[in-house]
Amino acid sequence: MGDSRPIGVFDSGIGGLTVVKALRDLLPNEKIFYLGDTARVPYGGKSANTVERYSLEMTNMLVDEDVKAIVIACNSASAVALPKLEKTLSVPVIGVIKPGAQAAISATRNRHIGVIGTRATIKSGAYEKALREFDPKISISARACPLLVPFIEEGWLEDKLTDQIIARYLEPLMRDGVDTLVLGCTHYPLLVRVISRFVGAKVELVDSAKNCAIAVQQLLDRQLLRATTENSGSLEVALTDAPDNFLRVARDALQLEIGEVQLREVIHGAGNVA
Ligand code: DGL
Repeated sequence: MGDSRPIGVFDSGIGGLTVVKALRDLLPNEKIFYLGDTARVPYGGKSANTVERYSLEMTNMLVDEDVKAIVIACNSASAVALPKLEKTLSVPVIGVIKPGAQAAISATRNRHIGVIGTRATIKSGAYEKALREFDPKISISARACPLLVPFIEEGWLEDKLTDQIIARYLEPLMRDGVDTLVLGCTHYPLLVRVISRFVGAKVELVDSAKNCAIAVQQLLDRQLLRATTENSGSLEVALTDAPDNFLRVARDALQLEIGEVQLREVIHGAGNVA
């Protein structure tokens, strides 16, 4: 029979389209309903309480869309809000942290992993916790890289200034001797080429978007929620405020077809009703 309801994907803004791209590639028969909170982006510099409240509001809006599962594409939201969301939502929910941590544990040879992300993600310690659940003795070097998001949104994906910022943020991690680096932010897969040029071939990059898509596939299979192969997949994008230049940057970089973007008002307080 299959379940033809959409998968709901939530992000703080437009960066989560990296996860949508990975989902579309891996699960072409699935419908995706994407909700980006562009009215309140960025989440990465906000407090855990605020990010949790926003995440509850947004995911409840997705439940109202009759989605069969929810993917928290935003690393900052996954890092601080996932435990609460798992408890309160009536549909299965999956974040990006655990799949990324698991992939990093499989990739590392010297058992020293680097993690980069927003301030909210790094401050939460969520990647450390997830990595240590897989391997309590793993060494971790984590670093917040708050300047990367605005540079990526500006479309400066191949730019000398971006190279300099990457060098400044990543040099200490390279000195620490990491052999695996988790790209713990929706936006960073757009810099994969530049980052791998800087860290070199000996450092494995772990793209949390791709690993999240694999985890979603496993979840749908486990819970018998996959759409059948007769279903044609689609993508609907809704935002809480008009998109800016970054939508074009992301669409072009990811080569993603996005139809007309819908606008949705944030339903405030939805986080309290679960
Ligand atoms: N989506 C956020 C993340 O993955 C990055 C943008 C923001 O700070 O909201 O952490």
